[in-house]
Amino acid sequence: MKIVDLRSDTLTMPSDAMREAMFKAELGDDVFGEDPTTNRLEEIAANKMGHEAALFVPSGTMGNLICVLTHCKRGEEVILGNLSHTFLYEGGGMSALGGVHPYTVANRSDGTMALEEIESAIRGNNVHYPKTSLICLENTHNRCSGAPLTVEYTDQVCVLAKRYSLSVHLDGARIFNAAVALGVDIKELVKEVDSLSFCFSKGLSAPVGSVICGKRSFVENARRIRKVLGGGMRQCGVLAAAGIFALEHMVDRLEEDHINASILAEGISKIPGLKIELSRLKTNIMYVDLESSKMGADEFGKKLSKMGIKVLTTGPKRFRMVTHYGIDEDDIEFTLQTLKEAVRDIMK
Ligand SMILES: Cc1ncc(COP(=O)(O)O)c(C=O)c1O
Repeated sequence: MKIVDLRSDTLTMPSDAMREAMFKAELGDDVFGEDPTTNRLEEIAANKMGHEAALFVPSGTMGNLICVLTHCKRGEEVILGNLSHTFLYEGGGMSALGGVHPYTVANRSDGTMALEEIESAIRGNNVHYPKTSLICLENTHNRCSGAPLTVEYTDQVCVLAKRYSLSVHLDGARIFNAAVALGVDIKELVKEVDSLSFCFSKGLSAPVGSVICGKRSFVENARRIRKVLGGGMRQCGVLAAAGIFALEHMVDRLEEDHINASILAEGISKIPGLKIELSRLKTNIMYVDLESSKMGADEFGKKLSKMGIKVLTTGPKRFRMVTHYGIDEDDIEFTLQTLKEAVRDIMK
């Protein structure tokens, strides 16, 4: 049976060519700094981002945690969006493991936080308060329909942060989707932030891995924290090779995922019983609302799954769909036909 799995772009599989690159990778022990492929990946990533240095880490979650723990001491505070991945879906790692306090500011539908609200969340010098140290942004913004943050907005937040001697960390798990959607050089998007992390294991289709970038001294401290968290990986060149392949071959094709997403969303907008805010779709993530009093999203998702379409339930009447490598135009057509049938069944 044909299965079109649209739950996430983390489901992407490495291509044969990527696997070949992994198979042939030259290896050493990276905890000794001797894995040539990982060293090369870190150099390529730092150059691509226009930052001094980079560090290969096992996951986006660990990348964000390492950056927060490198920027902040115990009892300090991070300002971040109330819908950010770091706040919602990373196990509260900053407080669980670092004694760092999150202060949330509302994310608007475009993934931004209002500058005035960020400013008013910055603590004054008072013994009653935690000390604000860091502001976190997310680009693209997962829960805000994959919204890309612009260069202008990112720079404005960084100017504000500097005024208060704060650092800025960017969760750029899908930063390449943002650069492709906005048509800007990726360096522009990250030039003012103090640190960023991005993932190979999402739209870039590698099986594992993320990278953090920043100043050389920051990355040296981050390397120590990665080891403390158990993230020192030995012959990880097999994984880094997939990352190099991803940077060289998988970035430009993200445009295809965005085009497929817009064909899918357009089609969904014409299906009675489903609701989607078309104007919010800029990259590869969309949220769809089910307008049925008879069935919730969970049950609808199970019904779809039996018909060959997998979606991720994110609310009582809401589900998420993400386009990615491995999903082609035929799959989009099949998805639209199946959705039509499934909704027709429950509207009867
Ligand atoms: C915006 C964002 N940040 C971070 C992560 C965490 O990445 P990982 O699953 O590699 O830990 C994700 C994962 O989906 C994400 O969407």
